[in-house]
Amino acid sequence: MSTVLSGVRPTGDMHLGNYLGAFKSWVTDQESYDSYYCIVDLHALAEDFEPKELRERIVNTAIVLLSVGLDPEKCTLFIQSSVPEHAQLTWFLSCITGFGELNRMTQFKDKSKNNESTKVGLFTYPVLMAADILLYQADRVPVGEDQKQHLELTRDLAIRFNSRFGATFKVPEPAIPTVGARIMDLQDPSAKMSKSTKDSSGVIYVLDTPSTVEKKIKRAVTDSESEVYYDPAKKPGVSNLLELLGASTGEDPKQLGEKYTNYGSLKKDCAEAVNSLLAPVKDRANALYDDRGAVKEILRLGAQKAHEKASSTFALATSRMGISIDEFT
Ligand code: TRP
Repeated sequence: MSTVLSGVRPTGDMHLGNYLGAFKSWVTDQESYDSYYCIVDLHALAEDFEPKELRERIVNTAIVLLSVGLDPEKCTLFIQSSVPEHAQLTWFLSCITGFGELNRMTQFKDKSKNNESTKVGLFTYPVLMAADILLYQADRVPVGEDQKQHLELTRDLAIRFNSRFGATFKVPEPAIPTVGARIMDLQDPSAKMSKSTKDSSGVIYVLDTPSTVEKKIKRAVTDSESEVYYDPAKKPGVSNLLELLGASTGEDPKQLGEKYTNYGSLKKDCAEAVNSLLAPVKDRANALYDDRGAVKEILRLGAQKAHEKASSTFALATSRMGISIDEFT
């Protein structure tokens, strides 16, 4: 069985872009892969955070993931920091990573721009991500388009380590989703729906109430035409609504575009579809908020399973690099 691994940063409330662009495919993949899903709290430490808030966000992220359908019987859901090998392998890998390589990472350049207090952790973020992936010998890594460069680095590091020290890591393939991948901000349809957007009126959170969802969709930016059709370049706002409606109902956004004659009815149906998609998710989430002990136990068992796999890969890497004490003579 092939292995899939992906990660999510617990840095904000989970929204429809996370759900439709990522988590939905995680839920599908757990049926046919040995699957590992990691809440990457160590990555969250590289940016500003409040300890109390971070703890809450880690729990929230786990609850949303379980509510959209991750099943601990079918996949391994765990918190990155619970498996110490992530940080340990990061050190090994950072010793074969070029400073210049990391300096070329576009996400680092964007995030450190105009910021005098940029941390080393933000610089080495992609190496930690490589460790996340390589520890599990992942074949397939579902990520958004924005993570492609980090995955390319991961592949380079695996190939470099293997050729320098002997076969150790599997070289992973990225899996960039095509449908539902690009849910855009309702207020600014030129930008991806994002956790870090300051104005949340264009972002639909998985746990938003039905009336909030309705309000946000009603106020979504469209354009000055009145005709409905799917054309993301010319009509980004309307196309995004069609995309959302399509992803919620499983229909094709282009064909949906031909069914509507005005923006009002498109928005109404879109809000209804999103709300019926989210209703069962919210029910499950509420039940889990009332049973945090169960969530904690799932994460504890997940960490145990993850640790089994990670520690065996890490032991091999240790031996390959010549520092395994078991092999001292
Ligand atoms: N860097 C990824 C993001 O910001 C999150 C992530 C961390 C990840 N480790 C990973 C994704 C390993 C896939 C695999 O979205």
